Amino acid sequence: MARAKIALIGAGNIGGTLAHLAAAKELGDVVLFDVVEGVPQGKALDLNQCGPVEGFDSHLKGTNDYADIAGADVIIVTAGVARKPGMSRDDLLGINLKVMKAVGEGIKANAPDAFVICITNPLDAMVWALREFSGLPHHMVVGMAGVLDSSRFRHFLADEFKVSVKDVTAFVLGGHGDTMVPVVEYSTVAGIPIPDLIKMGWSTKERIDAIVARTRSGGGEIVGLLKTGSAFYAPATSGIEMAEAFLKDKKRVIPCAVNLTGQYGVNDLYVGVPCVIGAGGVERVVEIALGDEAQANFTVSVDAVKELLAACRAIDPSLG
Ligand code: APR
Repeated sequence: MARAKIALIGAGNIGGTLAHLAAAKELGDVVLFDVVEGVPQGKALDLNQCGPVEGFDSHLKGTNDYADIAGADVIIVTAGVARKPGMSRDDLLGINLKVMKAVGEGIKANAPDAFVICITNPLDAMVWALREFSGLPHHMVVGMAGVLDSSRFRHFLADEFKVSVKDVTAFVLGGHGDTMVPVVEYSTVAGIPIPDLIKMGWSTKERIDAIVARTRSGGGEIVGLLKTGSAFYAPATSGIEMAEAFLKDKKRVIPCAVNLTGQYGVNDLYVGVPCVIGAGGVERVVEIALGDEAQANFTVSVDAVKELLAACRAIDPSLG
């Protein structure tokens, strides 16, 4: 059987880490694309030279030509710029929208059958715009946010409860960023919901509230520490988990930004919800009943995503 082909659009911090993880896990051969000449080629060569030490046979190629992504099974998009001090949200939207247009057209012309995972921020708007510009079916274009947000939540919870991260499950909904909705009643340690753990004296509501707040601003906390960039290890590993679910038809139930068509009362909007990812792309959206507090927070989050899309449409009226 031929090896799978993974194309990474954007060869920056996340793109380079994605390339290393994909090769080390032998998910397939990797094409690293960037507009900057030399960077994807240099990173690909450096990573190919890891192969003999790490024992992987995946081959990596760096390129500035979209033709090289032809036939990709999975495409992960991190192209764009991160918000810098002094840049308004609309400045960032304007720049990254143009990037999504170029990337969407490149994918449409060269790899229209791929499963596409968008990581570029602001995520919920960029994944929607990328889908619009590429014209791919909605179930083949998803955004990576929930895996990362829930991983951050799980890390903080495992620390709080002094248990293995493996035994902590977390449930998050909504947009990526300040309005994301960690759903405490569906987050567990070995199946025991957090409210029960509070009753058992393992923590307090106040401490869990503080963890929820820290999770929501998890990206900002890392930007504040790094000063010259944003998180890349956990975003990359989260993107790889989604790619692997598709390539290996694992039917993982994971939170992703997907296009909703009436689920949770939302239509034609990319929002983070749990879904089943397998060889068919987004195979099913998991719709659960929300408690009053989670529902209210979800509505705030959905409204924030709607506002972002309105700003995108104002910048680029071709977005219907
Ligand atoms: N096409 C392809 N690549 C592009 C384009 C474009 N039109 N425009 C910019 N790039 C490339 C840059 O040259 C750079 O190599 O995208 C890469 C972005 O890399 P970094 O600046 O290192 O950013 P990174 O940390 O990888 O994050 C990428 O993901 O989490 C989000 O907020 C983050 O939007 C940001 C994105």
